[in-house]
Amino acid sequence: MALTLDTYRLLGRSGLRVSPLALGTATFGTEWGWGAERDEARRLFDRYTELGGNFFDTASTYTNGSSEQMLGEFARSNRDKMVLSTKYSTLRQSGDPNSGGTHRKSMVGSVEASLRQLNTDYIDLLYVNVWDFRTPVEEILRGLDDLVRRGKVLYVGISSAPAWQVSRMQAIADLRGWSPLVALEIEYSLIERTGERDLIPMAREMGLGVVAFSPLGGGLLTGKYSRDDLNPIGTVAGESAGSRKSLNAALGMVTDRTLAIADAVKEIAAELDRTPAQVSLAWALHSQGVTAPIIGARTLAQLEVNLGALEVDLSASHLARLDEVSAIDLGNPHGLLASDHIRAVTSGDMTIETRR
Ligand SMILES: NC(=O)c1ccc[n+]([C@@H]2O[C@H](COP(=O)([O-])OP(=O)(O)OC[C@H]3O[C@@H](n4cnc5c(N)ncnc54)[C@H](OP(=O)(O)O)[C@@H]3O)[C@@H](O)[C@H]2O)c1
Repeated sequence: MALTLDTYRLLGRSGLRVSPLALGTATFGTEWGWGAERDEARRLFDRYTELGGNFFDTASTYTNGSSEQMLGEFARSNRDKMVLSTKYSTLRQSGDPNSGGTHRKSMVGSVEASLRQLNTDYIDLLYVNVWDFRTPVEEILRGLDDLVRRGKVLYVGISSAPAWQVSRMQAIADLRGWSPLVALEIEYSLIERTGERDLIPMAREMGLGVVAFSPLGGGLLTGKYSRDDLNPIGTVAGESAGSRKSLNAALGMVTDRTLAIADAVKEIAAELDRTPAQVSLAWALHSQGVTAPIIGARTLAQLEVNLGALEVDLSASHLARLDEVSAIDLGNPHGLLASDHIRAVTSGDMTIETRR
C-alpha cells in the first residue's frame, strides 16, 4: 500500500504523530565537507513540509550548529506543526570536559544551546546521542524528566546505546514515574542489520519507536558505488578528502559484502523500474518495529527520488532475496534459541502462535 508523508505513525508508546520518513538535517550546511548550502537546504525543507512531512532530525553539534540554525529559521513560521528532534552528548567545545557526555551539566548546556540555535521555546524530542559509559542512568533519566517538567522538552529518546542499558532505564523510568523513552535512534539498513539481535526487539517490547539513521548506508545503497571504491583507508580516487564517498571508505563501509548487497538492491530496482535508493528505503520503511527511517538527502533531486520510496511495494520474493543477501549471524544466544532443538524442548510438537 502506498504511503504518504501525512500517513502519520505514532512514535513508540507516545501519542505523538510523526511522518513515516523523517528528514535528516546533517546535510544542512557544508561545514562537514559534504552537505548542502543554505538555499538548497531550504528547498529540501520546503518540499518535505509541502507534502505533509513533520518529523526532523538534528543535533546541537551537526555542521557546527548550522544545521539547527537553518532548521529553526525554516521552521519558524510554522513552528507548532513541526516535530523537531535534537540530541545532546557529543562534545560542543574542545577542552571543556563537561560540554559533552550524557550527564546533567552537558544535557542542560546542550539543550540551552539547541533552544538558542533553533530559536524556539521547546524541543519536541530530545535524544541522548551517544552513550558515555560514565554517567549513572538515574542522573540521565531524572535530568531528562526535569527538562520535560520544565516544558523545555516534550518527549525523550535515546540513540546509540547498549540495549540492556536502555531496557534497564525504561524499567527505572516506569517505576519512578519519570518520562519514558519513546524513541530509539539507531543505524539500520540492508547493510547494518545487527540491531535485529537485541536493540529492535527490546524497543518493541519496551515501547520505543525505532528511528533508523543511515538507511542508505551513507549512499552505498544508491547504486553509485562499485568495486573501484573498495578502498579501506583514505580518499577515493577522484573524490575530495571531505566527500561522503571518502568518508564511507575511511569508515570501512565499502566492502565486498556491502557491494554484494548493493548489487542485489540494484537488480530488484531494475525489475521494479525504481531506483536502488527507493528499494533500500522501502525495505527500511516496512521493517518490523521501524517507525521512520531518516532521509539524508543532500540535493532536492535526491530528496525527490527518496520520497518515491513511499510508493514502492516489495513482494515477498523481493523481501526474501534482500533478507538472504543481507543476513547477519544473530549470535549467542539467539542462534541457539531459534534452533529446532530449543523449540522442541520448550514447546514439544505443539503450534503456539505469538500474537501480541
Ligand atoms: N543518531 C546518530 O548518531 C546519527 C548518525 C548519522 C546520521 N544521523 C541522522 O540520520 C540522517 C541520515 O543519515 P545519513 O546521511 O547517513 O543517511 P543515508 O541516507 O544513509 O545517506 C545519505 C547520503 O547518501 C547520498 N544520497 C542520498 N540520497 C541519494 C540518492 N537518491 N541518490 C544518490 N545518493 C543519495 C548523499 O550523499 P552524497 O550525495 O554526498 O554521496 C547523502 O548525504 C542524518 O541527516 C542525521 O539526521 C544520526
